[in-house]
Amino acid sequence: HVPVITIDGPTASGKGTLASAVAEALGYHFLDSGAVYRATALSALRAGLAPDDEAALAALARALPLAFRGRRILLDGEEVQEQLRREDVGLLASRIASLGAVRQALRQLQLDHRRVPGLVADGRDMGTVVFPQADLKVFLTASAATRAGRRHAQLLARGESANIDSLRLDLESRDERDRNRTHAPLRPAEDAVLLDNSALSVDETVAAVLKAWES
Ligand code: CDP
Repeated sequence: HVPVITIDGPTASGKGTLASAVAEALGYHFLDSGAVYRATALSALRAGLAPDDEAALAALARALPLAFRGRRILLDGEEVQEQLRREDVGLLASRIASLGAVRQALRQLQLDHRRVPGLVADGRDMGTVVFPQADLKVFLTASAATRAGRRHAQLLARGESANIDSLRLDLESRDERDRNRTHAPLRPAEDAVLLDNSALSVDETVAAVLKAWES
């Protein structure tokens, strides 16, 4: 049995930070499934595909030459981890993630990350769709104001300018699309542990998950 911990939640809730810290603490592999959708989006932008061409996008997703090497993410051998964080890439990722054929096409690529000694996977549907048998499922939330503030700080740290109110509107509309889509809508798995980290530090959040894992 290869243990799996899933961490799902809305945009900018801190899933990635939490999941990679938990993976490191346990010596497990880490899957950032959002990066898989973002890489598909970047690839689609480069190929000039229309955002609603489901068949072409699914074909692209099925053959996505994506590899994770520690912090580096390689798309067809090229390092793209910085480009994947672009707002236009995130926006397109959110759009194409609503397409069932694209989600289906990316499923095996995600399942392949389940390897010994274990996996921590973060995303929207890790606990509900991709790893329904996971040993621990966490649903991470934070208030919209907290999440907009964090995204703002992230962008500033990268030297990008951003307006906190428009970031908040953008993340709320992204959440709404994730929650209301037909395929794999964003919602906690029935057996998920709900964790709101609005008032918690990263360390406190990591500790809460490790405690839930040990018990
Ligand atoms: O950084 P942010 O939380 O906005 O996005 P992300 O986790 O990098 O994921 C990018 C987009 O992919 C999200 O807006 C979701 O719509 C989509 N996604 C998804 O549908 N299912 C996943 N398991 C992961 C991401």
